[in-house]
Amino acid sequence: MTARVIPVDPFDLVVFGATGDLARRKLIPALYHRLADGQMPDGARIIGTARSALDAEGFRALASEALEAFVPAEALDADIRGRFLNCLDYLQLDVSTPEGWEDLRGMLSTDGRPCAYYLSVAPRFFGMIAEGIGRAGLVEPNTRIVVEKPLGRDLASARALNAQLAEGFDESQIYRIDHYLGKETVQNLMALRFANALFEPLWNARHIDHVQITVAESVGIEGRGPYYDHVGAMRDMVQNHLLQLLCLTAMEPPARFEPDAVRDEKLKVLRALEPIDDPADVVRGQYRANGTAKSYREEAENPDSTTESFVALRARVSNWRWSGVPFYLRTGKRLRNRVSEIAIRFRDVPHSIFPGVAPLPNMLAIRLQPDEGITLSMTVKDPGPGGMRLTDTTLDMSFAERLATTGMRMPDAYERLVMDVIRGDQTLFMRGDEVETAWGWIDPIIAAWQSAPPPRPYDPGSSGPEDALMLLHRDGRRWREIEA
Ligand code: NDP
Ligand code: BG6
Repeated sequence: MTARVIPVDPFDLVVFGATGDLARRKLIPALYHRLADGQMPDGARIIGTARSALDAEGFRALASEALEAFVPAEALDADIRGRFLNCLDYLQLDVSTPEGWEDLRGMLSTDGRPCAYYLSVAPRFFGMIAEGIGRAGLVEPNTRIVVEKPLGRDLASARALNAQLAEGFDESQIYRIDHYLGKETVQNLMALRFANALFEPLWNARHIDHVQITVAESVGIEGRGPYYDHVGAMRDMVQNHLLQLLCLTAMEPPARFEPDAVRDEKLKVLRALEPIDDPADVVRGQYRANGTAKSYREEAENPDSTTESFVALRARVSNWRWSGVPFYLRTGKRLRNRVSEIAIRFRDVPHSIFPGVAPLPNMLAIRLQPDEGITLSMTVKDPGPGGMRLTDTTLDMSFAERLATTGMRMPDAYERLVMDVIRGDQTLFMRGDEVETAWGWIDPIIAAWQSAPPPRPYDPGSSGPEDALMLLHRDGRRWREIEA
């Protein structure tokens, strides 16, 4: 969706870890697209740094290869590519040593423009980089620092990281990325809720029976075994992406669409989450081998691993709006299809006037990926003669189709997020207290696993372990199918 582009002022963006996977797969393509869409101003500069012995030409060659690999061929234009590569520069810098920081200072612009430091490196380097930037006197009021997950692995480490960042930067300068917040449909959830009069009166326990939030992936751990086996689905997905989706679904309307107004409301939701005391409210799973598909343990190269590749849980938000409404969350790898959605199941009609027929309940599904869109299932009369027969149908709003008719492209989350950093807009970034509160809710769940049976096995290509189905069955409900 590139129709209206708000230009930004010239900026310096320093990417630490510019030769790594995230930089090549996401950041460089995202910046290319922003330039192609006319949002990157003349004079904008992207300075890559890493230990690799490259010069500016070498980095441009690496970036050019990244564009070939990760930008669709039809979007690659020789002229735009040339202009983009001209914005790039490179500094060889080992952040674990005191050398090189003065050279970085020498490369930065001196015209008072915004400067963002993007830490696309392992978290153990965050403190060193924050300190190095500070020591070299490179923190000005319009300096920003961007950090990626994992933002800690529990409350204690998240607090330590926040404290480390706070030594050199004000909270208003820290941009903690959860890329789910940059997805178009996630932002659309806020538009749907707060720019329409229709839903808000119904958005509460009186009218909503329950909410299902699903982030299903068909891929496995894709060569990330050493990282993932140390982390698992709860830390990798639930603590951040799924809880953020829950917050946006459950939060009260903020007074304004402004960073702290939105983040205050999300924080209240996190604080209202009831601790999960009943082990039966959480199901963990791990995929096993099936035919030619490898098991999780084989992929992780850890034959005894008890790391979960699937989690389903029942959460409750303890406040007036949501009292008694379960929020069922599930996420997993090697499931039947890649589907991310938030489904709001409305209550049954209080009384059916149609003899012998129970109208189907309304369901509002917000599809994040693939086929981004919104569907509302409704009960209507089955067309034609034969008496009053009812059938269900859906009102469909497909963003994908809408875009196809306009020739526009669905932007990647990183495009939006990187430009928000440059603009200095923190609305779609997590504040330190949100991250800590989320960990505070997750930690006891993970701690209880120490004395619990290992994850339940499930087949690759399935919907997860049987126990996850039971989580809803025992409440007289069922999951929506994981259909692409
Ligand atoms: P990679 O291992 O692919 O890249 C790490 C980068 O850090 C490389 O450019 C490496 O370059 C550089 N580096 C390593 N040591 C040093 C050092 N001492 N001094 C300076 N640079 C160094 O990691 P990713 O790109 O996958 O991930 C980066 C961060 O982003 C991590 O925090 C990760 O958790 C997070 N992340 C990644 C995602 C992804 O899709 N990849 C998704 C979400 C978060 P060199 O060896 O040349 O120094
Ligand atoms: C990342 C997780 O944060 O999100 C990955 O570390 C996961 O394990 C990915 O695959 C999913 O993101 P998306 O945008 O593909 O749904």
